Amino acid sequence: MKKLILMNPGPVNVTDKVRDAQLRGDLCHRESEFSDLMWSIRNKLLQAFDIKEEYSAILITGSGTAALEMAVSSCLTPERSILVIQNGAYGERISKMADAYRMKKHTLNYNWGETPKLNEVEQALQKNSSIEVIAMVHHETTTGLLNPLSEITLLAKKYNKRLVIDCISSLGGDNINFKQSPIDFAVGTANKCIHGLPGVSFVLHRKKDLSRIKDIPARSIYFALTQHLEAQDQGDTLFTPAIQAHYALNTALEELLEETVDGRIERYRKVAQNLRKGFKEIGLEFLISENLQSNCLTALKLPNGISYDWLHGKLKENGFIIYAGQGLFNQKIFRIANMGNIQDEDFTRCLKVLKECFTKTE
Ligand SMILES: Cc1ncc(COP(=O)(O)O)c(C=O)c1O
Repeated sequence: MKKLILMNPGPVNVTDKVRDAQLRGDLCHRESEFSDLMWSIRNKLLQAFDIKEEYSAILITGSGTAALEMAVSSCLTPERSILVIQNGAYGERISKMADAYRMKKHTLNYNWGETPKLNEVEQALQKNSSIEVIAMVHHETTTGLLNPLSEITLLAKKYNKRLVIDCISSLGGDNINFKQSPIDFAVGTANKCIHGLPGVSFVLHRKKDLSRIKDIPARSIYFALTQHLEAQDQGDTLFTPAIQAHYALNTALEELLEETVDGRIERYRKVAQNLRKGFKEIGLEFLISENLQSNCLTALKLPNGISYDWLHGKLKENGFIIYAGQGLFNQKIFRIANMGNIQDEDFTRCLKVLKECFTKTE
């Protein structure tokens, strides 16, 4: 198959070294080699984000949603409630998870692309003393909007609430200051800004919070976080893991450690800045204002008379995969992510192809 440049928000292009790591050989997950591999990944995750003292990394086989479900289903004491802040498809997914587990729930709903109002979050916390956990998406991939994480962590601290943050599309690409803005459950996945392959995801859990969640009765078999943690701390795993995806993740983390998280964030920031300069020169319009955008993805309005399918087809003919708008943004926007192992010349070529698309149809 022809090589495609993935400008969708994950799965991402990976280096040859990461791809080749999958072929390291067959292995049984009950052998010491897998314990070593798991230990190495968990350790590297904590090392990369400089949170060794304060956090545990808990791995789970599955896409990012699996790790998110592990965090959501394990975070809440029975009889207490969860406050979900939602302004996109992924915030709404957290809400659906809370409903699936019959959790007591409050929601703050904002339009997709609108920033949550901090005074309303504070009012909700003051009004509902039963709230124990606040859940929010950091980078709402639906629109490319970065939610106000440090402000929300300050509110959580002020009102002594726990935090579940979906960092699936931002961890490694946008800044998260775990020291200043501690998150109790930070959810991530291998195949976005970490540059691994699909199949394994993880929760970074604040050790301080372990005594609280240890006694919460498990709401699920597959997603019971404390049971995964206990097993992994003993070098064991509850179920059969995606072993080859773990090999790839370990190599991806070696590369991340070499580049450093700060280095990668800065690279993403510069790439996004250059792409956005190019989008503006072509005459494309952003869905949300530039100061709200993440480093990882740009949502652009589809110009009049251009269908998403046509644009997607043209870019694919030239080797680029772009992404559609979700839900109410379907056929109204398209999204271009700059995650993964993509070279500068590929970004430049993508802008050139986009420009040709719009010039030819004028
Ligand atoms: C913010 C966010 N949360 C959750 C998910 C779901 O991840 P997955 O498709 O790996 O389950 C995505 C996927 O793009 C995402 O961007």
